[in-house]
Amino acid sequence: MHPCDRPRLVLVAAVASNGCIGRQNDLPWHLPEDLQHFKSVTRGGTVLLGRKTYESIVQRLGRPLPGRYHLVLSRNTRWQPQPDHAQHVQTVQSIEQAIHLANERLADTLFVIGGAELYTATQDIADSAELTEVELLPEGDAFFPGWSPKGWENARLPNCKAGDWQLSKASGLRYRFLRYSKPKVNIKLGAAVLLAGDAKRFGGQPKGLLENQSGSILRQTVKALLSVGVDHVCLVHGGHAGALVPAVDGLEVEHLENPEPRKGQARSQQLGLIQLGDALDGYLICLGDQPLLDKEGLRRLICAFRKREPVVDMVYPESHDGKPGNPVIVTPELRHWFASQSQPVLGKDWRQSNPAKAAAFPTARPGFFVDIDSEDDLNAFNAGQKQEDRLAMPLGYTFQRSAAR
Ligand SMILES: NC(=O)c1ccc[n+]([C@@H]2O[C@H](COP(=O)([O-])OP(=O)(O)OC[C@H]3O[C@@H](n4cnc5c(N)ncnc54)[C@H](OP(=O)(O)O)[C@@H]3O)[C@@H](O)[C@H]2O)c1
Repeated sequence: MHPCDRPRLVLVAAVASNGCIGRQNDLPWHLPEDLQHFKSVTRGGTVLLGRKTYESIVQRLGRPLPGRYHLVLSRNTRWQPQPDHAQHVQTVQSIEQAIHLANERLADTLFVIGGAELYTATQDIADSAELTEVELLPEGDAFFPGWSPKGWENARLPNCKAGDWQLSKASGLRYRFLRYSKPKVNIKLGAAVLLAGDAKRFGGQPKGLLENQSGSILRQTVKALLSVGVDHVCLVHGGHAGALVPAVDGLEVEHLENPEPRKGQARSQQLGLIQLGDALDGYLICLGDQPLLDKEGLRRLICAFRKREPVVDMVYPESHDGKPGNPVIVTPELRHWFASQSQPVLGKDWRQSNPAKAAAFPTARPGFFVDIDSEDDLNAFNAGQKQEDRLAMPLGYTFQRSAAR
């Protein structure tokens, strides 16, 4: 598994001032405000927890946590939840297996909710932590790793935002919410979105205008690019700008017309890359008609680009059966090469001729590979999305032609 192709790991814990988190497989305090906070952080998500914590939850509530999917870690291969809880619970034997299953469920985040053994095992790879500090010095037998009374200032997750101390009405305890995250080195990115296809198989309506209740594919793609921190988005049109420009109304993008769209996509790509300029650290080449491309997929691809080997000039998604996907990200050096060719070259052709300089980002996320090319594709896609066993897409994730044709 590629280290970038995984959900964000977030530790969620309530920790007393002396680091204590538990006593006799239960919480040493009752703090309703923290339980509410825990619920709002993890609601609807996938949680990873140790077998002992799982059993303590079931003992307290009589069932698993409502509205969350549980991955319960145990070394005992025969351990199983009660049959009537099994729908919301899966046993895992390792953290890698938990990450793999969370990926299959398309989870963006995996919440590690304890106990002490689980926090210790995941602390090094965690991306952030949502902690509630409880002002109390209880006796206990389970402790948060690396905790000091001053907080986590010297620990491995150095960036901390601390909320104000608050007083619990129900228990009289003082508590505060802390958020730790790993510092990020920002890189400056641009994206050329290629929209000059002739849309013949859709009766002249660009595929990026197919829409669901979240908006058109194009608008969702541009929003995803902006939300992962792409600094400069350039849409390259080829005759459909009149219909496409309104679809991104209010979003910070630049529009560019390819005057000769019939000469092929390579020229649109070249024009887009030239327009983005040479001052960025990476350049995405996007299609603008991929119905499932989302922020989470882009976040992982950008992570793979950041972690590329020095010889690599292009990072592209690749399915586990070897199918290349989109978008791809190229370095400033390769952008310069594409921009300066008298005969424009497609990214795909460069990749095939330069395998040593193109790195695959192996992933199963459908957003990189699913394409709707024809009316038949659209019907098949919509039928698949309606199936009960579909992946964790929001309900009703089907697309129609835009009403404003
Ligand atoms: N304050 C909080 O926010 C908070 C949150 C959660 C829990 N807690 C408290 O924490 C205490 C429980 O913590 P704990 O450390 O004793 O237990 P735990 O982490 O909940 O569970 C430990 C169990 O998880 C399994 N496990 C752990 N690491 C594993 C690995 N690498 N591979 C496979 N299985 C693994 C093992 O199960 P098997 O024995 O089945 O092999 C192990 O016995 C309780 O007091 C609970 O109330 C507090």
